[in-house]
Amino acid sequence: MLLFLLLVFLPAVPIETEVVETLTDCPGYFVEETPPEIPDILVGGNILNRTRYKVICQTLEDTRRFLTLYDTKNKIPVFSAYRFIGAQPGRPKEDWKIEPQLEDTNDDINMRLLEDYTTILDNQAVDSDYRNNQSYDRGHLYPSSHAPNESAKLSTFTLTNAVPQSRTFNSGNWSQMERCTKCLMEHYCIRNRTVIEAFVVTGAEQSDEKLNDKMNIPSRMWSAFCCNRTDGVWMSKAYWGHNVPNGNVTESSHEEMTTNFGIQIFPPLCSVRQKSQDKTTLCKKKCKFLTPSVPPADKDETSEKTTFPPNTTPTTTTPPTTTKMTQPTTSITSRSVIKKKQEDCEETEDRNKKEIEEEENNMEGEESIMKRVFII
Ligand SMILES: *[C@@H]1O[C@H](CO)[C@@H](O)[C@H](O)[C@H]1NC(C)=O
Ligand SMILES: *[C@@H]1O[C@H](CO)[C@@H](O)[C@H](O)[C@H]1NC(C)=O
Ligand SMILES: *[C@@H]1O[C@H](CO)[C@@H](O)[C@H](O)[C@H]1NC(C)=O
Ligand SMILES: *[C@@H]1O[C@H](CO)[C@@H](O)[C@H](O)[C@H]1NC(C)=O
Ligand SMILES: *[C@@H]1O[C@H](CO)[C@@H](O)[C@H](O)[C@H]1NC(C)=O
Ligand SMILES: *[C@@H]1O[C@H](CO)[C@@H](O)[C@H](O)[C@H]1NC(C)=O
Ligand SMILES: *[C@@H]1O[C@H](CO)[C@@H](O)[C@H](O)[C@H]1NC(C)=O
Repeated sequence: MLLFLLLVFLPAVPIETEVVETLTDCPGYFVEETPPEIPDILVGGNILNRTRYKVICQTLEDTRRFLTLYDTKNKIPVFSAYRFIGAQPGRPKEDWKIEPQLEDTNDDINMRLLEDYTTILDNQAVDSDYRNNQSYDRGHLYPSSHAPNESAKLSTFTLTNAVPQSRTFNSGNWSQMERCTKCLMEHYCIRNRTVIEAFVVTGAEQSDEKLNDKMNIPSRMWSAFCCNRTDGVWMSKAYWGHNVPNGNVTESSHEEMTTNFGIQIFPPLCSVRQKSQDKTTLCKKKCKFLTPSVPPADKDETSEKTTFPPNTTPTTTTPPTTTKMTQPTTSITSRSVIKKKQEDCEETEDRNKKEIEEEENNMEGEESIMKRVFII
């Protein structure tokens, strides 16, 4: 009889929820499934206040995309975590979505547009909360530029993945950092010499300030990645900056993040330090604005070689300083492969600049019309 009752009533209970109870219910986004340690919030994998902090297994088109630990009081994420597997170029024009299950756990598993929603949202920010203040963007934690395909890009446009971020910080050194880490991960995080894979966690530190009396304006933001390199050695890098106009981004290590922020982002295996870990020659250009500057390239080619996928093994570590319009003149040498890659990178940078302008153009209201006039 009991079994019968269970069978009858179980289907009424939602089997799938994407606002899940614990981080382990949303696997695949942390190095060795080990989540960060964030004092007073997340300790030993346990969320200390489960009323306030919600684990969102970010889902779009019935596919899980990434993970966010969301602070329903501050109405901003604590962090978003994702697996970087290489990225497609382009940025979709997209309306921002919300997370239905933060309001009603029986609602649909997929993030969706606000207009499809009829009740008032108590537990999260909505798009209109970000309007009327030109100083702050809806700053992505998991950026669209790090997503592998169109649907994955669309999934990053959810407000539970955004914080009020100083506009010039977002479009300046923070976006520079995103280009830099994308380049580093694509060149160095090649698992088993075949697949790009890195684990990234990006977070925001709460302050005492609010935007529109609703969302907390984070004082600092941080981002770190860890991966098992081609040669089987783990590598990690961390970056952080103050969320202020024209804010700078400082390169750090995940160990320094413990000293500086009191958080531990990755498990100890990401701490393995090797001399060659600092070789970021290929991405030097993309990382050039970051402080402290990337160590100068040394010419230790032999150990450098081991960090590249076979078909891009460089014959030189000196990046050409020619303009991006120069065509590779050498025949099919690895030098031209590298050169080609760098041209791709430069195109990406130009495209990103265009995207930033487009995003500014897309702002709602009269200011955007004025802005468009200025840009054109
Ligand atoms: C947990 O968070 C809720 C909502 O922010 C708050 O009302 C409650 O006091 C918190 N509980 C503890 C033990 O801090
Ligand atoms: C896009 O990438 C995700 C991984 O984030 C994958 O699950 C999904 O199948 C991909 N979609 C397409 C259309 O390739
Ligand atoms: C980034 O910060 C550096 C100083 O660290 C500054 O010189 C540079 O102009 C900034 N870049 C942008 C795009 O804001
Ligand atoms: C590594 O890649 C090779 C093919 O290049 C494949 O045969 C092997 O199964 C892969 N190993 C792992 C652990 O994925
Ligand atoms: C934007 O928000 C900040 C922080 O709340 C506030 O200091 C500033 O006055 C706001 N600007 C406008 C134009 O509302
Ligand atoms: C890193 O990857 C290599 C090659 O795939 C593998 O042999 C090694 O066990 C991995 N290292 C760790 C610590 O898992
Ligand atoms: C960024 O760094 C540059 C150079 O170190 C400095 O001049 C500038 O004031 C910094 N910007 C901010 C907002 O701290």
